[in-house]
Amino acid sequence: MEDLTPRKEDLEPIEIASRDEISALQLDRLKRSLRHAYENVPHYKKSFDDAGIHPDDLKSLSDLAKFPFTVKKDLRDNYPFGMFAVPREQVNRIHASSGTTGQPTVVGYTKNDLQMWAGVVARCLRASGLRPGDVLHNAYGYGLFTGGLGVHGGAEHYGLTTVPISGGMTQRQVRLIEDFQATGMTVTPSYALSIIDEYHAQGLDPRKSPLKVGIFGAEPWTNAMRLEIEQAFDMHAVDIYGLSEVIGPGVANECVETKDGLHIWEDHFYPEIIDPNTGEVLPDGEMGELVFTSLTKEAFPIIRYRTRDLTRLLPGTARSMRRMEKITGRSDDMIILRGVNVFPTQIEEQLMKISPLAPHFQLELNRIGHKDEMRVKVETLPDTVELGDQAGRELAAKIKQVVGVSVKVDVAGPGEVIRSEGKAVRIVDNRPKE
Ligand code: DLL
Repeated sequence: MEDLTPRKEDLEPIEIASRDEISALQLDRLKRSLRHAYENVPHYKKSFDDAGIHPDDLKSLSDLAKFPFTVKKDLRDNYPFGMFAVPREQVNRIHASSGTTGQPTVVGYTKNDLQMWAGVVARCLRASGLRPGDVLHNAYGYGLFTGGLGVHGGAEHYGLTTVPISGGMTQRQVRLIEDFQATGMTVTPSYALSIIDEYHAQGLDPRKSPLKVGIFGAEPWTNAMRLEIEQAFDMHAVDIYGLSEVIGPGVANECVETKDGLHIWEDHFYPEIIDPNTGEVLPDGEMGELVFTSLTKEAFPIIRYRTRDLTRLLPGTARSMRRMEKITGRSDDMIILRGVNVFPTQIEEQLMKISPLAPHFQLELNRIGHKDEMRVKVETLPDTVELGDQAGRELAAKIKQVVGVSVKVDVAGPGEVIRSEGKAVRIVDNRPKE
């Protein structure tokens, strides 16, 4: 694989500033952001007042812990525009969640917000090893989802030849990567696997593709999956993180030269890790729930937003800004199976060790009598069909040994596990609702 390390002179000075400089900037911006939210969003005025706290009480960064959290329900309760801090006329763009699990959540951006977003996404693309002039195949979905348009804005701002292909029509994905000689690809890791399959279906070798780097996010994925994708395409695979409520893609990104976790762009998004049960702030290095406060957003300032994503904060390496470890999973996706906590990423990690099995999987939860059971749906590769039963038994044994739960493994034939064109649905819960 090519060395794609960006030149130091191409980085923004703040990316390699001292921690003191970064903290001073954060404190200044945090004070302004708290005041902006308090003065312009009735929800924040009420929640701060109820907690007996005022933006002027923030004297140091650690004082942020005294302010109340914001949760998804607050956004739903203020549907659609109640969390906006500027008149609706100044909101240039809206994005929203699909709303499949309830009231959709709506987020908004001023012109300045869109510029800031493009700037942080450009930083991600540079950290991933792309340079102005590269061709980016952007297969994140376009529309209300922030993935497609968010990456798009940053890619144009950075000077890439941007191909807005969006998700779906996998045959055409392969054709355009080849015809347009894409050097970078932005896509969910699960959909990248479908694109690899399509290369093989067309009799093409993905290792001969023009791609140098893939930038994968919007769903949890493991280092084992990274190796799988890197080998399949003979390219680098780096992680990009973000969420609509905070901005969209571009909150944090791995550096291609280190691939050791995602640097959080802390000059715009202030991270904390809390104990999800007590809400207490945990020191760096400890695992917990990630919480973000926006430092510069105008239309939709967000204060101490509980992401439900589980990770830990680590010191900077390739950049001065702190890293977050790859996300283990969302607390909503944690399965409690007969008292043991299980995340889909733990299953993925074990699956990747069994070479006759393809990297596609889905978990199905059923209630049999009074007991919950988990079935792991996997499939063989085209040339390993006869090894399927043995591989299934091996996977069940590994899951038992490493994760600590007994599961049933259903091994299907090639192509039989459901594919995603965006975020993969890892869990199908058939258990009766309590
Ligand atoms: O998924 C934004 C995005 C688009 C990020 C494209 C990266 C690339 P939402 O739809 O609001 O926004 O979903 C946000 O997705 O809270 C995480 O649970 C999950 N997620 C996003 N990136 C990662 C990642 C976009 N790199 C939710 N690793 C977040 C693990 C991720 N989970």
